[in-house]
Amino acid sequence: MLHAVSGRLSRVLAVLALAATFALGLMVFPASAQAQHKMNETDMELPIDDAAVVELGKEKFAQRCSFCHGGGGKGGKGPCLTCGRFPYSGNTNTGIYTVIAVGISNRSMGGTMGAFGTTMSAEEITAVVTYMRAEERRRIAAGEIPDPSRPQ
Ligand code: HEC
Repeated sequence: MLHAVSGRLSRVLAVLALAATFALGLMVFPASAQAQHKMNETDMELPIDDAAVVELGKEKFAQRCSFCHGGGGKGGKGPCLTCGRFPYSGNTNTGIYTVIAVGISNRSMGGTMGAFGTTMSAEEITAVVTYMRAEERRRIAAGEIPDPSRPQ
């Protein structure tokens, strides 16, 4: 009789341990979601803490974008892309990705920004956006630019 009770008790404990592990997993998950750098629930995820992706993006940016957007994306002929402000793409990763892929053909909106969707792979464009966001985060942390998520 006692044996049966302790058997049930250990099963209950096993289930509790399993539930605790699951809850812990849920607690850890939001932290990694944050590392994906999304601007809102439906925004495209970016692996902002993946050094290899950021490095690839940095390389591609230097090859294809610095000419107009300046070294480190600080701006030149084209606007700053690491200042936390994206008037053309609404400051979402999806919007920025889209502008890079299809360009800005509307002359009343500028029309100088070309389309890179045919000469860069999706992986490369994602890496470039990830690099821009990583650089933006670094600049906010260094106090070089104001944090756009905090009203001044
Ligand atoms: C020939 C110059 C030129 C090159 C090269 C260029 N851009 Fe641009 N880009 C511009 C200009 C100028 C604008 C402002 C809008 C316009 O005039 O079309 C712009 C706008 C943008 C925007 C919109 C910013 C916002 O406010 O949302 C993004 C994003 C962008 N460029 C990313 C890139 C990336 C990434 C690359 C490299 C893959 C790149 N551009 C290469 C000139 C360039």
